Amino acid sequence: MVSGLAGLTAILVCAAYAQTSGVTFHNTVTGETLNFDDALPEGRDTDGVKKFMQTGANPYNEDPSCLKKGEQIFLSACSGCHGHLGEGKIGPGLNDDYWTYPENETDVGLFSTIFGGAKASMGPQYQNLKLDEMLLVMAWVRHLYKDDVKHATWLTEAQKTAYKPYKHDETFPDNSPGLCAGK
Ligand code: HEC
Repeated sequence: MVSGLAGLTAILVCAAYAQTSGVTFHNTVTGETLNFDDALPEGRDTDGVKKFMQTGANPYNEDPSCLKKGEQIFLSACSGCHGHLGEGKIGPGLNDDYWTYPENETDVGLFSTIFGGAKASMGPQYQNLKLDEMLLVMAWVRHLYKDDVKHATWLTEAQKTAYKPYKHDETFPDNSPGLCAGK
Protein backbone atom coordinates (compact mmCIF):
# COMPACT_ATOMS: atom_id res chain seq x y z
CA MET A 1 0.00 0.00 0.00
CA VAL A 2 2.75 2.41 0.98
CA SER A 3 4.80 1.55 -2.10
CA GLY A 4 1.65 1.84 -4.22
CA LEU A 5 1.09 5.33 -2.88
CA ALA A 6 4.74 6.23 -3.46
CA GLY A 7 4.42 5.00 -7.04
CA LEU A 8 1.29 7.05 -7.56
CA THR A 9 3.00 10.10 -6.09
CA ALA A 10 5.93 9.61 -8.45
CA ILE A 11 3.57 9.45 -11.43
CA LEU A 12 1.77 12.59 -10.31
CA VAL A 13 5.05 14.45 -9.80
CA CYS A 14 6.21 13.41 -13.28
CA ALA A 15 2.91 14.53 -14.80
CA ALA A 16 3.19 17.90 -13.03
CA TYR A 17 6.76 18.29 -14.26
CA ALA A 18 5.82 17.44 -17.85
CA GLN A 19 3.11 20.06 -17.64
CA THR A 20 5.40 22.82 -16.36
CA SER A 21 7.97 22.10 -19.04
CA GLY A 22 5.53 21.97 -21.94
CA VAL A 23 7.75 24.19 -24.08
CA THR A 24 11.30 23.26 -25.05
CA PHE A 25 14.11 25.80 -25.18
CA HIS A 26 17.25 25.64 -27.30
CA ASN A 27 20.45 27.63 -27.43
CA THR A 28 20.02 30.25 -30.18
CA VAL A 29 23.36 29.44 -31.85
CA THR A 30 24.17 25.79 -31.06
CA GLY A 31 20.61 24.42 -30.80
CA GLU A 32 21.51 22.57 -27.59
CA THR A 33 18.66 22.10 -25.12
CA LEU A 34 18.87 24.70 -22.35
CA ASN A 35 19.26 23.40 -18.83
CA PHE A 36 17.35 25.45 -16.28
CA ASP A 37 19.23 23.69 -13.46
CA ASP A 38 21.88 26.32 -14.20
CA ALA A 39 19.47 29.17 -13.41
CA LEU A 40 19.87 31.27 -10.27
CA PRO A 41 17.95 29.65 -7.40
CA GLU A 42 15.70 32.64 -6.75
CA GLY A 43 12.94 33.72 -9.10
CA ARG A 44 12.50 30.29 -10.73
CA ASP A 45 9.00 29.48 -9.63
CA THR A 46 7.09 32.74 -9.73
CA ASP A 47 3.59 32.56 -11.21
CA GLY A 48 4.93 34.42 -14.25
CA VAL A 49 7.75 31.92 -14.85
CA LYS A 50 5.40 28.94 -14.38
CA LYS A 51 2.90 30.37 -16.84
CA PHE A 52 5.63 31.13 -19.36
CA MET A 53 7.10 27.61 -19.12
CA GLN A 54 3.66 26.17 -19.87
CA THR A 55 2.52 28.48 -22.64
CA GLY A 56 5.68 29.98 -24.16
CA ALA A 57 4.03 33.41 -24.02
CA ASN A 58 5.43 36.07 -21.67
CA PRO A 59 2.58 37.01 -19.32
CA TYR A 60 4.37 40.28 -18.42
CA ASN A 61 4.11 41.78 -21.93
CA GLU A 62 2.37 45.17 -21.81
CA ASP A 63 1.56 44.80 -18.09
CA PRO A 64 2.33 48.27 -16.66
CA SER A 65 3.26 46.84 -13.24
CA CYS A 66 6.08 44.86 -14.90
CA LEU A 67 7.33 47.43 -17.40
CA LYS A 68 9.04 49.77 -14.94
CA LYS A 69 11.02 46.88 -13.40
CA GLY A 70 11.86 45.61 -16.85
CA GLU A 71 13.14 49.03 -17.86
CA GLN A 72 15.44 49.19 -14.82
CA ILE A 73 16.92 45.77 -15.63
CA PHE A 74 17.34 46.75 -19.29
CA LEU A 75 19.20 49.94 -18.32
CA SER A 76 21.60 48.08 -16.03
CA ALA A 77 22.12 44.85 -18.00
CA CYS A 78 21.50 45.52 -21.71
CA SER A 79 21.48 49.16 -22.79
CA GLY A 80 25.29 49.55 -22.59
CA CYS A 81 25.52 47.28 -25.63
CA HIS A 82 22.08 47.63 -27.23
CA GLY A 83 21.44 51.37 -26.64
CA HIS A 84 19.03 53.10 -24.23
CA LEU A 85 16.07 52.60 -26.53
CA GLY A 86 17.27 49.26 -27.87
CA GLU A 87 18.27 51.13 -31.03
CA GLY A 88 21.57 49.23 -31.30
CA LYS A 89 25.16 50.06 -30.40
CA ILE A 90 27.81 47.31 -30.29
CA GLY A 91 24.91 44.85 -30.17
CA PRO A 92 22.12 44.93 -32.79
CA GLY A 93 18.91 46.94 -32.51
CA LEU A 94 16.18 45.20 -30.51
CA ASN A 95 13.38 47.71 -31.21
CA ASP A 96 12.75 46.98 -34.89
CA ASP A 97 11.36 44.13 -36.95
CA TYR A 98 14.72 42.80 -38.15
CA TRP A 99 16.20 39.89 -36.17
CA THR A 100 19.56 38.25 -36.85
CA TYR A 101 17.93 35.14 -35.37
CA PRO A 102 14.29 35.15 -36.53
CA GLU A 103 13.23 33.03 -33.53
CA ASN A 104 13.73 36.11 -31.35
CA GLU A 105 10.39 37.27 -32.69
CA THR A 106 8.87 34.67 -30.34
CA ASP A 107 9.07 34.98 -26.57
CA VAL A 108 10.57 31.48 -26.35
CA GLY A 109 13.32 32.52 -28.77
CA LEU A 110 14.01 35.81 -26.98
CA PHE A 111 14.14 34.07 -23.60
CA SER A 112 16.53 31.45 -25.00
CA THR A 113 18.88 34.13 -26.36
CA ILE A 114 18.95 35.95 -23.03
CA PHE A 115 19.37 32.75 -20.99
CA GLY A 116 21.93 31.03 -23.20
CA GLY A 117 23.53 33.96 -25.10
CA ALA A 118 24.47 34.20 -28.78
CA LYS A 119 27.81 35.08 -30.40
CA ALA A 120 30.59 37.53 -29.53
CA SER A 121 29.86 39.67 -26.47
CA MET A 122 26.26 38.42 -26.17
CA GLY A 123 27.10 36.15 -23.25
CA PRO A 124 24.61 33.90 -21.46
CA GLN A 125 22.73 35.84 -18.78
CA TYR A 126 21.67 32.92 -16.55
CA GLN A 127 24.15 33.86 -13.85
CA ASN A 128 23.32 37.60 -14.05
CA LEU A 129 19.52 37.54 -14.12
CA LYS A 130 16.90 35.44 -12.38
CA LEU A 131 14.41 33.69 -14.68
CA ASP A 132 11.71 36.10 -13.53
CA GLU A 133 13.98 39.08 -14.31
CA MET A 134 14.49 37.71 -17.82
CA LEU A 135 10.73 37.86 -18.37
CA LEU A 136 10.65 41.40 -16.98
CA VAL A 137 13.42 42.62 -19.26
CA MET A 138 11.80 40.86 -22.23
CA ALA A 139 8.57 42.76 -21.58
CA TRP A 140 10.55 45.99 -21.73
CA VAL A 141 12.38 44.98 -24.93
CA ARG A 142 8.98 44.26 -26.50
CA HIS A 143 7.64 47.57 -25.24
CA LEU A 144 10.49 49.45 -26.97
CA TYR A 145 9.34 48.05 -30.33
CA LYS A 146 8.69 50.82 -32.85
CA ASP A 147 7.92 49.12 -36.18
CA ASP A 148 4.81 47.77 -37.85
CA VAL A 149 2.48 46.08 -35.36
CA LYS A 150 1.74 43.36 -37.89
CA HIS A 151 5.22 41.92 -37.21
CA ALA A 152 4.74 42.09 -33.41
CA THR A 153 3.66 38.46 -33.25
CA TRP A 154 4.32 38.35 -29.48
CA LEU A 155 1.29 40.59 -28.84
CA THR A 156 -2.22 39.24 -28.32
CA GLU A 157 -4.92 40.52 -30.69
CA ALA A 158 -6.16 42.93 -27.99
CA GLN A 159 -2.61 44.20 -27.39
CA LYS A 160 -2.14 44.69 -31.14
CA THR A 161 -5.27 46.82 -31.30
CA ALA A 162 -4.02 48.94 -28.38
CA TYR A 163 -0.44 49.15 -29.72
CA LYS A 164 1.26 52.52 -30.00
CA PRO A 165 4.95 52.78 -30.93
CA TYR A 166 7.15 53.51 -27.91
CA LYS A 167 7.64 57.19 -27.11
CA HIS A 168 10.89 58.32 -25.54
CA ASP A 169 9.41 60.08 -22.51
CA GLU A 170 6.86 57.39 -21.53
CA THR A 171 6.87 56.60 -17.82
CA PHE A 172 4.94 54.20 -15.59
CA PRO A 173 3.90 54.84 -11.98
CA ASP A 174 5.69 52.63 -9.41
CA ASN A 175 2.47 51.17 -8.04
CA SER A 176 0.55 50.24 -11.21
CA PRO A 177 -1.76 47.25 -10.69
CA GLY A 178 -0.90 43.97 -12.42
CA LEU A 179 1.01 40.69 -12.18
CA CYS A 180 4.21 42.33 -10.87
CA ALA A 181 2.61 44.60 -8.27
CA GLY A 182 4.32 44.33 -4.91
CA LYS A 183 7.30 42.33 -6.24
C1 HEC B 1 28.45 43.12 -23.57
C2 HEC B 1 27.50 43.51 -24.60
C3 HEC B 1 26.10 42.96 -24.54
C4 HEC B 1 25.24 42.91 -23.46
C5 HEC B 1 25.50 43.37 -22.03
C6 HEC B 1 24.00 42.38 -23.96
N1 HEC B 1 24.10 42.10 -25.30
FE1 HEC B 1 22.64 41.28 -26.46
N2 HEC B 1 23.95 41.19 -28.03
C7 HEC B 1 25.24 41.69 -28.03
C8 HEC B 1 25.87 41.36 -29.31
C9 HEC B 1 27.27 41.71 -29.74
C10 HEC B 1 24.89 40.65 -30.05
C11 HEC B 1 25.06 40.01 -31.44
C12 HEC B 1 25.34 38.53 -31.24
C13 HEC B 1 25.12 37.65 -32.46
O1 HEC B 1 24.82 38.16 -33.55
O2 HEC B 1 25.20 36.41 -32.30
C14 HEC B 1 23.70 40.57 -29.22
C15 HEC B 1 22.51 39.97 -29.62
C16 HEC B 1 21.33 40.00 -28.90
C17 HEC B 1 20.06 39.51 -29.37
C18 HEC B 1 19.79 38.88 -30.73
C19 HEC B 1 19.21 39.98 -31.64
C20 HEC B 1 18.77 39.51 -33.02
O3 HEC B 1 18.74 40.38 -33.93
O4 HEC B 1 18.44 38.33 -33.23
C21 HEC B 1 19.15 39.75 -28.38
C22 HEC B 1 17.67 39.41 -28.41
C23 HEC B 1 19.86 40.37 -27.28
N3 HEC B 1 21.19 40.50 -27.64
C24 HEC B 1 19.27 40.76 -26.12
C25 HEC B 1 19.97 41.25 -25.00
C26 HEC B 1 19.36 41.59 -23.74
C27 HEC B 1 17.88 41.54 -23.45
C28 HEC B 1 20.38 41.96 -22.91
C29 HEC B 1 20.29 42.32 -21.45
C30 HEC B 1 19.76 41.29 -20.57
C31 HEC B 1 21.62 41.88 -23.67
N4 HEC B 1 21.33 41.46 -24.93
C32 HEC B 1 22.87 42.20 -23.18
C33 HEC B 1 25.87 42.32 -26.98
C34 HEC B 1 25.36 42.44 -25.69
